[in-house]
Amino acid sequence: MTDKPKDNVIMPGRGPIAEVDVSHLKDDGDAQGFTYEDSFGMDAEGFVMRWKGDWVAYENRCPHWSIPMDAVENEFLDPSKSFILCPMHGATFDVDTGFCFQGPCHGDTLEKYDVIEIGDGVVEIRNAAPKIKLI
Ligand code: FES
Repeated sequence: MTDKPKDNVIMPGRGPIAEVDVSHLKDDGDAQGFTYEDSFGMDAEGFVMRWKGDWVAYENRCPHWSIPMDAVENEFLDPSKSFILCPMHGATFDVDTGFCFQGPCHGDTLEKYDVIEIGDGVVEIRNAAPKIKLI
């Protein structure tokens, strides 16, 4: 039996949704938007961000009004570069988790994607593993 890393296991709905050139993203907070087709066949937007020497990726849609959060293209952080900021009404999100800790959508969470480096400065974006809520 072969032990495969979990990221190589393609579960239903977990296939790649985009490949993004991130070779130009060097510093924390540098981000690159991308587009993809969601599971309903609709055009959708996401972004991948350099963060703490790793990558995070989220759907570019504020849970409050379902609008993109980069009023300036590919800029998602507040001026202190500490959290993701929706400039429309000031919702603030934790960069690591996407959790909204202040603003009109307090308690909601950005849709998060898995990010896998595939080489040559390119990452593959995948739907994240399903969230399982224990009750
Ligand atoms: S649309 Fe993002 S906080 Fe209102």
